[in-house]
Amino acid sequence: MLRQSDALVPQNRTEPDPDPTNCSLLLACESSRKRKAWWREPQALAQHISQPVITGDSSISLGLAPQALRLRLLSQAKSLNNLRVGTDMTIPRRHFLQLLGTSITTITTPALITAFNESKPNKEKKKLLIAHRGASSYAPEHTVESYQLALTQGADFVEQDLQITRDAQLICMHDLTLERTTNVKDVFPTRYREEPVGGTATRRWYAADFTLQEIKQLDAGSWFNSRFKSARVPTFQEAIDLVRGKAGLYPETKAPEVYGRLGFDMEQLVVNLLKRNRLGTGSSEKHTPVIIQSFSAESLRKLSGLIKTRIPLVLLIEAEGRTRWLTTEGLTEAKQFASGIGPAKALLDKNLVMQAHALSLSVTPWTFRLTDIGRFKSLREEMSYYLYELGVDAVFTDNPDLFPRTK
Ligand code: G3P
Ligand code: CA
Repeated sequence: MLRQSDALVPQNRTEPDPDPTNCSLLLACESSRKRKAWWREPQALAQHISQPVITGDSSISLGLAPQALRLRLLSQAKSLNNLRVGTDMTIPRRHFLQLLGTSITTITTPALITAFNESKPNKEKKKLLIAHRGASSYAPEHTVESYQLALTQGADFVEQDLQITRDAQLICMHDLTLERTTNVKDVFPTRYREEPVGGTATRRWYAADFTLQEIKQLDAGSWFNSRFKSARVPTFQEAIDLVRGKAGLYPETKAPEVYGRLGFDMEQLVVNLLKRNRLGTGSSEKHTPVIIQSFSAESLRKLSGLIKTRIPLVLLIEAEGRTRWLTTEGLTEAKQFASGIGPAKALLDKNLVMQAHALSLSVTPWTFRLTDIGRFKSLREEMSYYLYELGVDAVFTDNPDLFPRTK
């Protein structure tokens, strides 16, 4: 439910009801050609507009009556770059404010407002393929082999989960510990910590207990398939060297609070490395865009302060974070430090995508893989549904070769 406080609305509601046909006078878009298209049918358009809402100093979004959610109208909305008033406004400002002041009381459905707010930038942007841990259905995750295959399969971005070694090197690895994806137990059989897991003492080989030189001795491929036995754990620098100029980088700060307790500043390490590589700058963006993701809002808040360039930050959201972040209030808060959200795919519906887009937050669900297609007939069909029916901007997938470039 959109609350009054969610929109910057005029407080004066004593003005008389507006003539709804005047609403079309408020509409203006970036392109005069498109504006004319709107003006050709001002009456038809005005029939559908019942609730204008101001959302900022210079922009408006429009809430529509349920019956107004017609395809034709939505497609008209899509043709707009933005809905703006200001220099384009053709009626006196005081009339505009009157209109807003009288209509705000009837707002009930944020989905209707956000539906209208689906603007061209999100709709027409190229859908992005993010290779999740590389092409990790076909090669061991986070190895050069997996990243290389992702590039061959046309990934727009290659993801790197980041961990930190004892000697403060960023490496690409999903887990905090080494034993799932390397042969660390064989090479360093005594270098574990014993921890209670579910009441059982369990041995864990933490990456942060090993130097990079030690980790480089490990076989990071045989667990997946013996033909990958020469695969090694890549550093973030090696991932950058491999990917740059061919695709974008999509690093994730993994467990930054854990590393913080160990005395490491993960965000600073990431930013320093990107800076050393001259990434995240305006000029590098075209050939090697960078997006940083994290489940930790604190990590992203910190990054947004550290990063002076325009590296997009994406807040990952799992089921436990649903009530915290996937609400009007949560999304509005996320917008303060992030440019996008990355929810688990099961948490998404069309309304949520539209709400996020209305706040100019990109939406990038995870994770799409052959072994988890739910009710869909194929992985391609599942990704198509999310990309073209729900309207998400990008997906994380283990299977880059199955990404549906078109509907
Ligand atoms: O980063 C997107 C997705 O990878 C989040 O889950 O656990 O695979 O890092 P995880
Ligand atoms: Ca990840």
